[in-house]
Amino acid sequence: MRQCAVRVSVAVFGFLSAAFVSGLGVHGEDMPPHIVHQPSDVVVKVGNPATLSCRADGSPKPTIQWLRNGQPLRTREGDGQLQPMVLSDGNLFFLSVGGARRGSPHEGVYSCVASNSAGKAVSRNASLHIAGKTLLCAGLMLSL
Ligand SMILES: *[C@@H]1O[C@H](CO)[C@@H](O)[C@H](O)[C@H]1NC(C)=O
Repeated sequence: MRQCAVRVSVAVFGFLSAAFVSGLGVHGEDMPPHIVHQPSDVVVKVGNPATLSCRADGSPKPTIQWLRNGQPLRTREGDGQLQPMVLSDGNLFFLSVGGARRGSPHEGVYSCVASNSAGKAVSRNASLHIAGKTLLCAGLMLSL
């Protein structure tokens, strides 16, 4: 009789503490990042602005970095307008796509990385294509 009561109370305690711990897991402070808005492919004309979007949940609030062709992207630090910049919401903003002098430095495959103290998440690859050259070729072919 007495043993039974002890067992029941142990079981109840176990259940309650398991519920408490899983409750902590849901409402606790640390939640690894989760990408909620993936960047999508864009085609932009030379000289036009472009935005690649990335949004991530997580706690603490994740910081967003961008990769171009799998490499960390050089973003703007006040050294001219050619470098894209990461906006406060995590989006990547190009003031003017192209950069005629050295080919197409902005063309490529981009992904964002959201990280916080609990972990990190990588988005899908989104391609940025520059339309100027192709359009010019099409125009030349049409005029021939
Ligand atoms: C995205 O592209 C980069 C560079 O081309 C590649 O290394 C990486 O594996 C790709 N990631 C995915 C998820 O396809």
